[in-house]
Amino acid sequence: MNPGVLSIGSFPAATMAELASRFELYHHVHVPPALDPDVAGRVRGLATEANRGAPAALIALLPKLEIIACFGVGVDLIDLTAARARKIAVTNTPGVLGDEVADLAIGLMLASARQILFADRFVRDGRWAQGPLPLGRSVGRKTMGVVGLGGIGRAIAARGAALRMQVLYTGPRQKPGAPFEYVPDLVELARRSDYLMVACKGGPQTRHLISAEVIDALGPKGTLVNVARGSVVDEAALIAALSDGRLGFAALDVFENSPHIDPAFLTLANVIVQPHQGSATVETRTAIGQLMIDNLAAWFAGRPLLTPVP
Ligand code: 8YV
Repeated sequence: MNPGVLSIGSFPAATMAELASRFELYHHVHVPPALDPDVAGRVRGLATEANRGAPAALIALLPKLEIIACFGVGVDLIDLTAARARKIAVTNTPGVLGDEVADLAIGLMLASARQILFADRFVRDGRWAQGPLPLGRSVGRKTMGVVGLGGIGRAIAARGAALRMQVLYTGPRQKPGAPFEYVPDLVELARRSDYLMVACKGGPQTRHLISAEVIDALGPKGTLVNVARGSVVDEAALIAALSDGRLGFAALDVFENSPHIDPAFLTLANVIVQPHQGSATVETRTAIGQLMIDNLAAWFAGRPLLTPVP
């Protein structure tokens, strides 16, 4: 009998097929508020999307749960305290999605600076024949500030350097060997940056790290790009600064209350909004799914986990 696994989220077809072939699978798109006790008693593994997570109430429904395998790198929605209290192993998927998320971050930065979405509408609306597009802004020779030099932040920084930008970063500590200037103070980093790229972890430690003060330091010529978590940015402060021109532009893949984003964003011309699609390619989502399944398989075979969350 294959081990029982509860999967929660939307996975690529290849991931779903392999989950179903290797485990006795119970699938839900959203975190279920309740479960049939017979099913709950058979679940030994939980395969959950990063943006679904595993709240304490779900963990409490699963008396035989041994492992939570996260589809994604961010574990901010998994109740690690509840998991630890029951000695439930937790894995995530580092190393397979940094480049993909960084590509989107750079795409958002370029789309902001070079007005790519606005320019598309400009042509479609027949305005080209009446005069040229207003001028955009350069990225080359400008300063990129990276908030969080983890796997995603490093991939963004490398791309910034390739675009001939000056790259600075901040984080809780300087990263030995990183070829970029470390700026310990986030407000100073924002003041020196033209493009501030948010790539840090979510969760209580980074909640509203991008505060009104940071946003004001980035200023009217600055652009904020967030591919991390919505919780990292004080959205009320961001909307206020974008509305009155204290911040130039924001390009956002994540929101505090996604998918139900604050409707104020949709009224602002100086914002690009995306539906949390940083890692959303067939190739990368399939690789994320494979690593998640390999962790589950390793656990049930008694082998060491590939990528445990420390
Ligand atoms: C996930 C993410 O793939 O890795 C993360 O932390 O946010 C994304 O890459 C997303 O949650 C979809 O499942």
